[in-house]
Formats: sequence, structure tokens, C-alpha cells
Amino acid sequence: MKPLLTPSILAANFANLEEDIRAAERGGADYFHLDIMDGHFVPNISFGPWIAKQMKKITDRPLDAHLMITNPREYIPKFIDAGVELIYPHVEASYDVYRTVQMITDYGARAGITLNPATPVSSLEGVIDLIDSVLIMSVCPGFGGQKFIPSSMKKITDLRALLDEIKPSVRIAVDGGVTLENIRDLRKAGADFFIAGSAVFKAPDIEERVRAMKKAME
Ligand code: DX5
Ligand code: ZN
Repeated sequence: MKPLLTPSILAANFANLEEDIRAAERGGADYFHLDIMDGHFVPNISFGPWIAKQMKKITDRPLDAHLMITNPREYIPKFIDAGVELIYPHVEASYDVYRTVQMITDYGARAGITLNPATPVSSLEGVIDLIDSVLIMSVCPGFGGQKFIPSSMKKITDLRALLDEIKPSVRIAVDGGVTLENIRDLRKAGADFFIAGSAVFKAPDIEERVRAMKKAME
């Protein structure tokens, strides 16, 4: 599986979003990541489907939406209508997460599932038939700019082994504290999608940082 670099726009400059997106594109960004926070599931509020619509006007790179929200089913159709291709609800958000994931595929988007740092990898087994990626949170969700939790590295290795057994086509995404320094090790551990906010958009030169991160992960 080809590794894909996915900048998270949470760390971008919203006073001039287009300029930051263009720089990331020039560096070779493969995807863009939208962090959706409701101030309830996580202690922070970000943005909603309207930003996805604006992003579709700016870029033709695919978008994923990471739903850190309590009622994902209320918003899934809105994100898909706005043009989001891949949606990651949290396994911790509902007791009937299967229904949530099924809604994503029924609406014609690709589904992933997100696991918080303390959630065991086995918790994805109930939805494995519907998903094509698993997002491992390597920080507690809610904020950009946090430090990578070291045990996430082994969690990715364990998850890769589990997936190879039950559904080898499923890809692993890693989100939180991904940097130029740890991206190579994360690739070796088995990650395929590298979601990075601060490392990309707080860099002195966004284009150059994306290029360097892509080189390091390949
Ligand atoms: C955290 C978000 C992440 C965040 C990553 O809740 O899910 O996507 O934007 O930011 P960095 O790369 O700064 O850790
Ligand atoms: Zn995220």
C-alpha cells in the first residue's frame, strides 16, 4: 500500500486557508483531513460541513472527516453531500457504531473507524466487514499540537498483525503528534495514512515540509 500524507487543516491559517492548502499541494499532499469537534465528545469546537464545501472549491485532493462528535449520524449525510470521500467516526461515540458505519457506506462514502489511545484494537472487529481503514489516535482527541503517545507505535504493529489475519486490505491511519522525526518509524510499524497538522502547517515552509515528510515515509 502506498503511504499517503494527509495534512490536517486544523493547524492551518484560517485567515488565508487557500494559501496554506496550495503550499501543501505543491509539496505533494495526497489528502486533506477535517477534524470535526462538537465541544461535547471532545473539549473543543472546530468547524462543520460548510468548511468541507469550501475545501472542495479550493482543492481537488480527496477529503476525509474525523468525527469527534456525539451524534455522528446526524451529520454524516451532510459531510457526504459536501463532498467528503472518507469518514472516520469514533468507536467510543455510540453503542451501536455498526449502524453509524453502515450509514456511511449506504450513503456511498468509504468508512473508517477511529480508536482512542486507551481503546484496544480488538474493538474494531465488530465493524471490520464495512471499513477500509482504521484511524489510530496517537494523542487524546480535541487539540492539535500534542505530543505523540509512545505506546501508539506498538499499537500500530499489533493492529497490522490483526488486520493481516482478518482483513489485509484495511489501511491504518495515524493521527496526533506525527512529525518529520517519527514518520519513518510509523511507516515501518505499518501505518499507511499519515495525518499531520502542526508538523505541516506550523512549519516555516509548508511546501518543503510536506516534501520532506513524504520522502521520509516512502
Ligand atoms: C486531534 C486531531 C488531529 C490533530 C493533529 O484531535 O484529531 O487530527 O489535528 O494535530 P497535530 O498533528 O498537531 O498533532
Ligand atoms: Zn484528526
